[in-house]
Amino acid sequence: MNSTWLIILGVLAAGLAVFLLLPTVLPERAPDVEDPAVMDIEPEVVAEAEDAAPETAEPEPEDEATETEQETAETAEDVTPEEVTARVTGYSIDGVIGATEYAHHSEVAGVEIHWSNDATYLRMGLVAPGTGYVSIGFDPVRRMEGANYVIGYVQDGKGYFRDDFGTEPTAHMADVDRGGQDNIISSAGAEWADQTILEFIIPLDSGDEMDKPLVPGNTYTVLLAYHDLQDGFVARHSRRGSGEIQLDTVP
Ligand code: HEM
Repeated sequence: MNSTWLIILGVLAAGLAVFLLLPTVLPERAPDVEDPAVMDIEPEVVAEAEDAAPETAEPEPEDEATETEQETAETAEDVTPEEVTARVTGYSIDGVIGATEYAHHSEVAGVEIHWSNDATYLRMGLVAPGTGYVSIGFDPVRRMEGANYVIGYVQDGKGYFRDDFGTEPTAHMADVDRGGQDNIISSAGAEWADQTILEFIIPLDSGDEMDKPLVPGNTYTVLLAYHDLQDGFVARHSRRGSGEIQLDTVP
C-alpha cells in the first residue's frame, strides 16, 4: 500500500515538474496572424512610398510645366490684337468688372456705376441687384426727358443692349425709332443669381441728334434704373434714382 502511494506521488511530482518546465523548453508562441501582419506591412509600404516618391515625383513636375507652357503658348497664339490691347490697357468689355478696370465708381439707387473716359469714348460698367434690365440715362432735362439712355439685359447668357432717348418726363424710345442711330460701340453682359452686370462703350459725342454730347471734365446728372426680374426695353423700373458722374479731363 505504501509503495503504491509512493508511486502515485512520484508520478504526480513528475507531472508537476513537466508542467512547470514546459514553457521554458517550448519555442515562443506563434504570432497572431493579423496584428503583426499590419505591423510588418505598414512600415514597408511607407518605406516603399518614400523610396518611390523621388523616382516618380521628379519627372512629373517637368511634364506638367511643359504642358502648361504649351497651353500658354497655344492660347497666346489664339489671342486677337484687340484682346491683347484690352489686356495691356487693363480693360475688356466682357461682363466682368476687374478691380482696376475703371478709373471711377459710384453708386446710385443700389446700382454700382464704374466709368472711365478718354477724349473720344466713355467706357462704363453697371452692376445691379436682380436679373432684369439695367439702364443709365445721361444728362436729363426734365425727369426722364432729354436723357440719352443705354438699356441692357441678359437673357440665356446673352446681353441685349439698346440706345434710347428720353422722349417724355416718364418715357423713352429707341433712337432708331426716332430717326437716330444705335451708337453703342461695344457691349457685354453677365447675369448671376441675384446680380446683372453690363459693360459698354459709347462715343462721348456720336453726332446723333438722339444722343447728348458729353464733354471731358464736365459733371453730368445720370439716371439709374433697373428691374428686379423683368428683361426687355419697355418695363418700368422696380427701383430708380439719380446721381452725378464727372468725366476726366483729357490733356
Ligand atoms: C418704359 C419704361 C419706363 C417707364 C414706363 C417709366 C416710368 C416712369 C414714371 C411713371 C416715373 C415717375 C414716377 C416714379 O418716380 O416712379 C419715372 C421716373 C423716373 N424714371 Fe422711369 N420709366 C421707364 C424707364 C426708365 C429708365 C430706362 C430709366 C433709366 C435710368 C428711368 C429712370 C427714371 C428716373 C431716374 C425717374 C425719376 C425722375 C425724377 O422724378 O426726377 N426710367 N419713370
